[in-house]
Amino acid sequence: MKRLHMAFALLFFITGIAVYAQSASVTVVDSNFENGNLDGWAPRGDREEKLEIVKDIKHGGTSSLHVFNRSKTWHGPIHKLTDNAVADDIYSVSLWIYYKDGPATGAFTFSIERSFKDASKAHAYQNVTSFQAKKGEWTEFKTEYTVGADPTQAGIWVYFELPYKEDNLVQPNDKIDFWVDDIRIVKLDPALRPKAEQNIPNLSEKWQNYFDIGAAVSADEVNFSSQQAQLLMKHFTVLVAGNDMKMETVQPREGSFDWAPAERIIDFGEMTGMRLRWHPLVWHSQNPAWLFQDKANPARAVSKDVLNQRLKTYIQTIMRRYRNRIESYDVVNEVLSDTAGLRTGSEGNKWLDILGPEYIDNAFRWAREADPKAQLVINEYGLEGDARKRQEMYNLVKGLKDRKVPVDAVGLQMHIDIKTPTVQQIRETIELFAGLGVKVIITEMDMSIYTSPSEAKKEATAAILLEQAQRYKDIFALLQEESRKGNLGDMVVIWGTSDNTSWKNNFPVPGRTDAPLLFDPRLQSKPAFWGLVDPGKVRGLR
Ligand code: XIL
Repeated sequence: MKRLHMAFALLFFITGIAVYAQSASVTVVDSNFENGNLDGWAPRGDREEKLEIVKDIKHGGTSSLHVFNRSKTWHGPIHKLTDNAVADDIYSVSLWIYYKDGPATGAFTFSIERSFKDASKAHAYQNVTSFQAKKGEWTEFKTEYTVGADPTQAGIWVYFELPYKEDNLVQPNDKIDFWVDDIRIVKLDPALRPKAEQNIPNLSEKWQNYFDIGAAVSADEVNFSSQQAQLLMKHFTVLVAGNDMKMETVQPREGSFDWAPAERIIDFGEMTGMRLRWHPLVWHSQNPAWLFQDKANPARAVSKDVLNQRLKTYIQTIMRRYRNRIESYDVVNEVLSDTAGLRTGSEGNKWLDILGPEYIDNAFRWAREADPKAQLVINEYGLEGDARKRQEMYNLVKGLKDRKVPVDAVGLQMHIDIKTPTVQQIRETIELFAGLGVKVIITEMDMSIYTSPSEAKKEATAAILLEQAQRYKDIFALLQEESRKGNLGDMVVIWGTSDNTSWKNNFPVPGRTDAPLLFDPRLQSKPAFWGLVDPGKVRGLR
């Protein structure tokens, strides 16, 4: 026994030396602010915001960096990482953060700014992740950032800010001072990158007699050399963008379309023989500001006529461009209220307030006109567990059908959690819509390990992952049954590939790490994956 221990110790020692000797990790930022200078950190806000080294508040050593005089959420310290972004490079980031005024817990956001080889192109901003700190306590924060595959990018900066709010909505709590210390950013040795698990069954093949299985991705993930792409190519046969097909990205200014991010996904999908969806054409969220503004006087709302024109042009520009290439469209997304009826301006939906309910009919008609063969979907969340909302969707779709509005399918987003809704509720929902003669497709499935926003951050333990696997398995068994009955369309889309990329890590609670998908952050299969491909491999699955 003893000898075995010794042998292991020696082995670890030797491997340790080997890893150390070969490690090509590079420390890019190592700021403890002990030498009294800003060490390359600068204020993002050009005028008001200030940075200084202070000694009264610090994490390690004798000083820290104080960020003060902030007047915008995005005011915070920024530091350059590189002039020459290299796709798939991973930067690991760790730091300590502190604040003493404001709410008991405060959210901070770690973000990336990128410049482009074409220096005249506006810089891009990306919120990587958010995290929670406690008032009056130093909180450690760690994350990783993987450089995307955009061939036009040039430099990268990192910065810390508060969750974004438009300038006119900024509250005193958004302007608080904060302190940072012991910031370390390391560019990882490529050998330390996670590797997509290899010798496992192919997920889509397992279900191919019933439906294709898709994934939501970002343009940055569909780089042939990336490990995410290995997972995509092996397991998925449908692609959709998690964000890159939304109007704020596609039409940032009126009449000026930026196809590049969506098209990286479309190209990748076509090159790898995947089917494609577009999400969404019409939504109340992630729109450019100009959309609802009067052109001559942006302080005024756009007129009904002009907005109708903008809507029609947008739908038809996209659908004509991708005719015969994109099969399925979320024509309208989340048109129902969380309380009653259609979603109005009070829940963020300016479409309804300006155009009235007929914008839904028009959107579908204009879509059909632009591409007669595409599948036209009305996409919604929370229909399964909410009888009121489900019934309202039924009434809405029935009305559309009665008026001969061309709707082909109801999309159930299926952002569900580990307990609810029940399989029975999902069954009733699918069968209800099938009774109207429309198909049901699953458009954004994920399964949170949390059941309420008030639940504290927790580890995804083996027991939780087993429970999750059981539920994925049970729900897919239902989907198979509904497919046999002819009620289901032929696509089930999962909202992401590996847990580290999931939006649920920041929604509904910023920085609360979740584990809703089929692969873990190291790109290894989770019990949920096995629940779908070979349940016998997971002990305890029924
Ligand atoms: C989410 C994305 O996944 C996030 O990255 C983004 O910050 C917000 O939007 N319903 C939808 C999707 O229809 O568009 C949303 O996607 C998730 C909820």
